[in-house]
Amino acid sequence: MAQRSVLGVGIIGAGFIGEFHVRSWTGVRDADVVAVASRTRESASRLATIAEEIGVGTDVTAHDDVRALVRDDRVDAVWVLTPNDSRLEVIRAIVEEVQGGAALTGIAIEKPLGRTVAEAREILQLVESAGLLHAYLENQVYSPAITRAHELVWRRGASEAGTPYLARCAEEHSGPHKAWFWDGAKQGGGVLSDMMCHSVEAGRYLLTPPGVDPADWLTPVSVTASIQSLKWGRPAYAEQLLELYPGAPDYRERPSEDYARAAWEFVNGDGETVIAEGTTSWSYVGAGLRLSFELLGPEYSMQSDTSSTESKVFLSRAIGQGVGEDMLEKQNAEQGLMPVVADEAATYGYTGENRHVAACFLRGEQPMESLRNGVAVAELLMAAYQSAQTGQTVRWPVDLTDFVPDVAQGTWNPRR
Ligand SMILES: NC(=O)c1ccc[n+]([C@@H]2O[C@H](COP(=O)([O-])OP(=O)(O)OC[C@H]3O[C@@H](n4cnc5c(N)ncnc54)[C@H](O)[C@@H]3O)[C@@H](O)[C@H]2O)c1
Repeated sequence: MAQRSVLGVGIIGAGFIGEFHVRSWTGVRDADVVAVASRTRESASRLATIAEEIGVGTDVTAHDDVRALVRDDRVDAVWVLTPNDSRLEVIRAIVEEVQGGAALTGIAIEKPLGRTVAEAREILQLVESAGLLHAYLENQVYSPAITRAHELVWRRGASEAGTPYLARCAEEHSGPHKAWFWDGAKQGGGVLSDMMCHSVEAGRYLLTPPGVDPADWLTPVSVTASIQSLKWGRPAYAEQLLELYPGAPDYRERPSEDYARAAWEFVNGDGETVIAEGTTSWSYVGAGLRLSFELLGPEYSMQSDTSSTESKVFLSRAIGQGVGEDMLEKQNAEQGLMPVVADEAATYGYTGENRHVAACFLRGEQPMESLRNGVAVAELLMAAYQSAQTGQTVRWPVDLTDFVPDVAQGTWNPRR
């Protein structure tokens, strides 16, 4: 019988997104989860047990030391899923182990690649110096609703009528799930850093022909952006935030933006002006997470919205409900007519992402969404912060090497 080769994957970071990735693995054929590392062995063990229970790994080793995981003989590639302020320290440790002889093929890193352009560039440089294949984990460009519509629009519409000119992408929910996300210094900013990274990359992807790197098709020209503290800087909500997330900043004094809007202008490969618009917020109270996408071109358009689900459930007021997140991510209610995202890992793109990245690493090939895309996204986001801070349109070329947003420096407060 032919030998089947399987990539051994080490998961670093056993929190919210670590569990999402592990659960997506039921749809990944070319790789098994073989080890998990986290700050504590308890949290690593909890996720290792989940991996074993759902059958995506056997004898999954739990580590409280990243270096030990990298040296683990069964680990061929690592997925870095730790908080933004630990990114550089974790990557440095991995690269040192590889340079010391650990046999690793590839590294996949969650969004945003860095809190600043300087951090993102340093991470890319470290990974390339170690000779690793690399992937930037931007799940939305692997979401089936997006990849399928993208392929159809380009094949049937753009081929005849011309290239698309406007992408509109939005990601909204009622706020993140851990204290560190709310801290501008730890996270790198507010919702612009946390969620606009998705929207700008989804926009670039939609505006670019299938199989082409957005960097080769879209040349940035300018960005006009604004940010605001709409909800969580109000005194009552600032107090609620401190109760919900002890250790988070007091948003009356040191808020991060909970709303961001940006429009990037590019010139595309045909020499035409095109625009990617992004709108993101932590101040949307609806059923739960809502991702929406539109692509407009001459004679065609596409649209997709994750809250328009195939399934819905209705629960009357007579039924007492426990609070849960079993219908969709960042769920806000348990009664009335509720959308149900049947397979969140697939819908949001994690399954397709991990299937593609694992298959590429196993074949020794570079995945389509590389850390270079992560650096490009960091540049586009930092230019947007600069525009929001100055109230001016930022035009390329722009040097963002030393730029740190006011929100990340703790000096931004629009209510003052
Ligand atoms: N793609 C998406 O939509 C998406 C969604 C959520 C989070 N994320 C990204 O994933 C990353 C993690 O977010 P999260 O929500 O899982 O955070 P989290 O706080 O829920 O979990 C982080 C995990 O990392 C571990 N950790 C922290 N520092 C570490 C270190 N130095 N070494 C090893 N382990 C360490 C913690 O113990 C914890 O298990 C962030 O960069 C975030 O932006 C992406």
